[in-house]
Amino acid sequence: MQGKRILLGITGGIAAYKIASLIRLLKKSEAEVKCIMTPASCDFISPIVVSALSENPVGIEFWNKKDGTWNSHVDYGLWADIFLVAPLTANTLSKMATGSCDNLLLATYLSMKGRTIVAPAMDLDMYAHATTKRNLEQLQGDGVQIIPAESGQLASGLEGEGRMAEPETIFDFLKNATVITEQYWKGKNALVTAGPTYEAIDPVRFIGNHSSGKMGYRIAQELLNRGASVTLVSGPTNLTLEHPQLEMVKITSAEEMLEAVQSAWSGVDVGIFAAAVADYRPQDVADEKIKKSEDSMTIELVKNPDILKWAGAHKKEGQTLVGFALETNNVKENANKKLVSKNLNLIVMNTLQDVGAGFGVDTNKISILDNRNNFESFELKSKSKVANDIISYLENYIS
Ligand code: CTP
Repeated sequence: MQGKRILLGITGGIAAYKIASLIRLLKKSEAEVKCIMTPASCDFISPIVVSALSENPVGIEFWNKKDGTWNSHVDYGLWADIFLVAPLTANTLSKMATGSCDNLLLATYLSMKGRTIVAPAMDLDMYAHATTKRNLEQLQGDGVQIIPAESGQLASGLEGEGRMAEPETIFDFLKNATVITEQYWKGKNALVTAGPTYEAIDPVRFIGNHSSGKMGYRIAQELLNRGASVTLVSGPTNLTLEHPQLEMVKITSAEEMLEAVQSAWSGVDVGIFAAAVADYRPQDVADEKIKKSEDSMTIELVKNPDILKWAGAHKKEGQTLVGFALETNNVKENANKKLVSKNLNLIVMNTLQDVGAGFGVDTNKISILDNRNNFESFELKSKSKVANDIISYLENYIS
């Protein structure tokens, strides 16, 4: 971590005492460390300890009331490669999720140029609360990486999820985030397709599917986290994603998705096609809303373009292509056929037979097959972790 500039934001939770060990690990690895503390966190760990270990003054207030010196949140935001908020309390989480800015730490978050990573720490019920989950989702959608809380003994005496990840785990996470990322993804362009497509029947009706887009958005997020530039071609979803290196292209139909992919393709290093494209569309789209008249009606469907197949047919040296397969039977055999016929490098398989995998849910269970005949199965995991597995597999494949 030599020369990496880590800005540590400490908030008022009991886990703040563990931050001393984290600072020591960072300093030992030759990272530069600066710290900002919320006023509440000073009750849990002394700023003197933090300042002595980090070998830098600690920012707590916007102004030094004695001499009027300004602690510039803008300068902190420009200085840091990574802003790590640990521990992240429910209170600071909710303020970050809504853009509140009533202390130096929050103002710095809003001024950050590099990426932000958070390590939540709270009691069992607080961590499990719907509001906390919603706020964490919001942060993730805003491009923040989350180091999940762990299970174990909590300060309240309760046992369960909510403990801040151990300093060693946080340190490893930061190391991966800074070192591996730069090696593979800096300067690389990735294209991700996500979500469903809607195929119009008339101005108010369409043929669609249950895809939420979560898998594709998590993949785009993971690529951004690792330093890639990403074009996300997204069908209609309720999701948001914002990042300086993200180009979001919103489309509705398969034909529009094909057009977006075609116009970006020549500059793409890696294409990951996670969209659930409608295979067919109505042959004719009515100009006016169709009135009900007969007891039955027939809609003539025609085949949509296979966007992934188009990309495979136009794949040049140096481009890597990843497709998805949602199979219900003969999973590996069918996926292999798609890998070959669409000229893919990797195919990610999931089946609807696995509980918790597939459409609409937050978890997925995948296996990956590549065109060098390697095969790997993964456990049921959150879609963020699945995205992490896919991109890590891809890194090994490319290198
Ligand atoms: N795909 C695509 N364009 C399409 C259809 C699918 O880009 N018109 C992509 C998907 O994003 C996914 C993969 O192709 O990466 C899925 O392959 P596909 O052959 O469509 O799988 P199924 O829909 O499961 O097809 P089938 O019904 O033939 O099994």
